[in-house]
Amino acid sequence: MPLPVIIDCDPGHDDTLALLMLGKSPELNLLGVTVCAGNQTLEKTTHNALRVLTLAGMTTRVAAGASKPLSSKITPVSDIMGESGLDGAVLPEPELPLEALSAVELMAGLLRQSGEKVTLIATGPLTNIATFLTGWPSLHSRIERIVLMGGGTFGNVTPVAEFNFHTDPVAADIVFRSNIPIVMSGLDVTYQALIYEHEIEQIRKLGNPVSTATADMLAYYLQRIVQRQYSKDGAHLHDPCTVAWLLFPDLFDLEPAYVAVETARGYCFGESIIDYNGKLSGKPCNAQVMVNINREKFIALIIERLSRYQGL
Ligand code: RIB
Ligand code: CA
Repeated sequence: MPLPVIIDCDPGHDDTLALLMLGKSPELNLLGVTVCAGNQTLEKTTHNALRVLTLAGMTTRVAAGASKPLSSKITPVSDIMGESGLDGAVLPEPELPLEALSAVELMAGLLRQSGEKVTLIATGPLTNIATFLTGWPSLHSRIERIVLMGGGTFGNVTPVAEFNFHTDPVAADIVFRSNIPIVMSGLDVTYQALIYEHEIEQIRKLGNPVSTATADMLAYYLQRIVQRQYSKDGAHLHDPCTVAWLLFPDLFDLEPAYVAVETARGYCFGESIIDYNGKLSGKPCNAQVMVNINREKFIALIIERLSRYQGL
C-alpha cells in the first residue's frame, strides 16, 4: 500500500529534485504539495513548484503557505539559486491550479480525509509545519512522522546554523517539541550527498524533457556552489535525502538524538543542538538523525527515478 505523504517545500533546486523523485515513486502517494518562503519569496517558490509539477506532468493539490517565518525574515539565496529561485532550467508556465486554501488548511483537510496516518516531508523552513501543529493539535495523531531536511552539527548560514532552521528557529523549535516522530536529514549527511559533474551528465544523457531540465538546473546549481566556495566539486542534494530515506532507508545510517533549536538572538541563533542518545542532557530522544549515506546508491536512485520520465 503506497505511503501517503505531503511535502512542504521552498523550490529551490534541491527541493525540485525531491518533487521529481516523488513524481515517479509509486511507493509513495503524494496527497499534496504545500509551499513556504525560504530560498526565495513565497510568490517565487510557489510559481516554481507549479512549474516543476507541470514539467513532470504531476497532478496534485498545491497550496501556498506563510510568506514570512514566525520568528525572523527570509533571506533569499539568490546567489546560489538565482533571482527566480530556480535559475538554470527552462520550465513551462504552470498548467495546474493553486488551491484557494492555505497550506495549513490543505494539510488539515488531507489529514482528515486520509484513511491512514500521513507522513509529512519538509524541505524548507518549518513555518507551515509549525503553524499547522499549533493550529490543529487534534490532528497530530494523524501524522505518521515528519521527515525533514534541516539542522546539523555545523551550519551553512552561520558557523552553527543551517539555512532552514536559521530562517525560522521558532518554527523548528515547535516541531522538535511536538512529540511527533521525526527523521532529520541535517548537513552532516547532506554534505555527503553530493552530485558531481559527470553524474549530472549521466542525467542529461537520459534524454527526456524532465532529465534535460534537471541536468540544466543542477549544472547551474553546481556552478554557483563551486563559485561561492561552498564545495570544491560537488553540489549538495540536501532535500532529496528525505524522499530517498522514505524509499530506501537502508541507504542511510541513523542515530537517535535529543535535538533542540536555539531561538535566542545571538551567535547561535538557529543552531540545532544534537545530543546523540540524549547522553549529555539526559533528555529523551526526539529524533532519528541521519549520520551517513551511501552516496553512490543515492545518486543511482535519483538517476533511475528520472529515467522513468522517458516518454513523458
Ligand atoms: O540548508 C539547505 C536547505 O536550505 C535546503 O532545503 C535548501 O533547499 C535550502 O532551502
Ligand atoms: Ca529547500
